[in-house]
Order: sequence, then C-alpha cells, then structure tokens
Amino acid sequence: MTVFDTTLRDGEQTPGISFKFEQKLEIARQLSAIGVHAIEAGFPASSQGERETVGAISALGLDSVVCGLARSRKEDVDACLDSDVDMVHVFIPTSEVQRVHTIKKSPEEVLDITGEIVAYVRDHCDLCMFSAMDATRTDHDYLIQVFRTAADAGATIINVPDTVGVYTPTAMKHLITRIGDEVDCPIDVHCHNDFGLAVANTVTAVEAGASQVQVTINGLGERAGNADLAQTVMIMESIYGVKTGIVKEKLVETSRLISRFSGITIPPIQPIVGDNAFSHESGIHSHGVIACAATFEPGIMTPEMVGHRRKLALGKHVGRHAVRQMLQEVHLSPSDGELDRIVEKIKFISVKGKRVTDADLFEIAETVMGIENGGRAIEMEDLAVMTGNHVIPTASVKALVNGKEHVYSCTGNGPVDAVLKAIMGLLSTKVQLKDFNIEAISGGSDAIGHVTIAVEDEHGRIFDASASSDDVVLASAEAMINALNMLHRVEKQ
Ligand code: KIV
Ligand code: ZN
Repeated sequence: MTVFDTTLRDGEQTPGISFKFEQKLEIARQLSAIGVHAIEAGFPASSQGERETVGAISALGLDSVVCGLARSRKEDVDACLDSDVDMVHVFIPTSEVQRVHTIKKSPEEVLDITGEIVAYVRDHCDLCMFSAMDATRTDHDYLIQVFRTAADAGATIINVPDTVGVYTPTAMKHLITRIGDEVDCPIDVHCHNDFGLAVANTVTAVEAGASQVQVTINGLGERAGNADLAQTVMIMESIYGVKTGIVKEKLVETSRLISRFSGITIPPIQPIVGDNAFSHESGIHSHGVIACAATFEPGIMTPEMVGHRRKLALGKHVGRHAVRQMLQEVHLSPSDGELDRIVEKIKFISVKGKRVTDADLFEIAETVMGIENGGRAIEMEDLAVMTGNHVIPTASVKALVNGKEHVYSCTGNGPVDAVLKAIMGLLSTKVQLKDFNIEAISGGSDAIGHVTIAVEDEHGRIFDASASSDDVVLASAEAMINALNMLHRVEKQ
C-alpha cells in the first residue's frame, strides 16, 4: 500500500489555513523524509503564486512523486505541466447533484471529457490520476463506465473520493470490491471526515483492494477534514500488518510541525500523536503500565514506534506506584509515610483543577522529605526582547547561575523562541526543548497565559514545568527557568 499525502492541497483548503511559501517547502521536505510515496503539492491553475510554489517543490528533487491537481480542462493540465510535476491529478464531478449544479454537463459529456482529458495528460506526462468527484454519491453502473473510460484512456491510477464523507465502511467495501472486479486499474481512495468515518472508510477500502490512500497530516482538509495520515498508517501497519513505507518514528514530529504551521492545535486525546496518547493517570493503569506497558496500551503500537513518549501523569487519580516510580527516576526514595503525604498533596492540587508538573512534584517531594535544596540555581535578573515587523526577534538575558552572573543573547523565529533559546544558552550543558504549550486562562487581550514546557537533558530525561503571567513572553521565560532549575536539582541528587 502506498501513501498519497494531500496536506498541501486539500489540507490547505481547511478554513483559515494558508501556509507560507517557505513553510510549504519545509512541509514537502518533511513529507518526503517520512517516506510519503506522492505529495499533492497544490492546484497550479488556481494562481500564479500556486504555480510557482508547486514548481519550487518539484525543483527540490525529492524522493516522493510530486503531483498537481487540475480540473478536467487543458489549461489546468498545462499549469501542472508548467510546474514540472511528476503526476497530474485530473478530476470531474460524476454525481448527479454535482454534475447538474456545478459543471452543468450530461452523463455522456462527462464520459467524453474524461476520455479526452486523461489522454491529453498521458500525451504529456507519465503519471495520471483520475478522480470521479463525489464518486460515493454517483450511480454505481455509471461510475464504472466513467472509471473504465479513464483507464482505457491511460489513467495510471483511479481515485474514489468520498467527497462529502457520507459513506460507511460496509458501503465502501462493496464499492471498492466492485470497481476492483470491473475496472483494470490500480485504485486510490480519498475520504472526508464529515461523520468521523474517514479513517475507517480508508482502511476498509484497502482491505477491499485499494492500493493507495489519500491522507493529510492531522486530518486537515475541507470542512471536517480528510483521513489522518498517522492513524491510517498505524492501523495498516500495526493491526493489518501491511507495510506503508512510512517512517513511523517521525509521525509525532511531523504532526507538531503541521500544527505549528497551520495554527491548528492537536487535541490532547488525538490518537497516535496527541499529548495524552500514551499518558496514564489512574493508579490502576499506571501500576499496570509500570509492570508491563502492554497492560493498558495497545502493545502492537508503542510510543517509541511513533516518536512519542510514555508519561505517568500527575492528577487526582494518581497512585502511589506511579509517584514512587517518578521519584525514583530522580533518585528520591521517600518513606511510605512521606509517599502518602506527597500523593495527598498532588491530589489536593489537582482537585482544584491545576495541572501538576514534574517540577511541582519535585518541589512537593523535597518539602515533604525535608530536603534542603539550597535555593534556585538559576535566577533571572534581566530580560530584554526586541521584536517587530522589520526586525529579527532577539532576546538578551542576564541571570545568576550558581551565584555567577551570565549574559546571553539569541535570535529566534519569534520573541518566545528567542527568549527560550537565550535562556537555554546560559547553561554549559546541552538541553533540548521537547514540548511547549500555551493556554489562555481568561478571555480578552489581557488574558493570563499559562505556559508548560518540557525539556530533555543530555541523558534523555524529560521534565516539565509551568508558569503563568499576563505577559506570555515572561510566562515562557519563567517556565523555562523552572524546568532548568528542576534539571539542575536532579543532577545534584
Ligand atoms: O474531495 C474531493 O473530491 C477532492 C477531489 C479533488 C479529489 O478533493
Ligand atoms: Zn477532498
């Protein structure tokens, strides 16, 4: 089975999303790096800018096939060819409702256009995908005629779009089986998520004989989106045992990249890539997972496989086993009585609705166990940030590190990025930012920002810490300082 990614085309049709030129190139490189077979880079006929972007992606010389979308018009195909794509994806509406109300063509005219446009593409390009738009609401006998016409004219793959996401897995299985039996051409499937069935329909199509799936990162796309790449790939690999060619370890990083560029945050409960996908809070679950991860995880899919991490979360359901394990990792061994008091405090804080971070746990444990921490190793003295529409965001930080004054300046992609890099630069040890999350606690432009940060030290240990302020730059700086102080204290143990 091969993966055709349409994040840059259908994904960009998500209301409110518009990727910048540089971001599109970076997304294309990342898609190729994760082993996507084909990238739908855009719709060249839609604008000069789109033509140039698709051309620039073609010029990257990626391992993936670069595809451009075209209506069934020669000028659209020419725009794809001008962008130097490897594959042209032509589509035409075939359902009655779309035929009558959009292109206003008879069934016979659609058949003629299909044959002509596919032949035109094949005269100029080796690879032609043909889509019967709204295939799932098209009369099946007629749909077969359309697909046969496309295949006879030279289509190298035919695509079955569930354009408005109305199909069920049972209906999909029936349709794909019939097309496979009656049309001599590889089948691709493109499912929308209007009823939340896009991934289920996609994997069922593969079960029924489709050899390629159209997906997007984070399920972006028109309306409720398209089938999600990570979910589709992991279901095929882990449940069906089918190879997809995708570098699964890069799924989480890819999802985060697209979330950053699209501005669409990943819900914590999103399968595979969400923050909670491998987090365990309840005492029973954490206890089980400490003994054997497969007790409360699929087992056939581990966090390592997808580039995620397992986390024992500190909340009101936390149990003694999880807390003991987390403290052991930082070389703290509370007595049974101390452990009870630590767990009690965590539950008390979380019942009030506050998230307890690793830094909070460490502080609670030290207080309960009467450990003298000798104060904070890093104390920020001054922070200056410069940002604007014509300057490169730059931050300078002055801080006391173990009582000695250090000053460090850094540029970044934005003021927060510059500040975090400047603070990390204060230390001689190498620290990596693993997670950054910001929430507005109240509404309005003066909202309090609550920032949670996770950092990884040289030994691969990850710790999180948080801070709140009505200035998000200061909240970010404070959260980073809290995380680094936590790391520093752990090193001392
Ligand atoms: O949803 C759809 O039908 C499409 C086509 C262009 C394949 O996006
Ligand atoms: Zn679509």
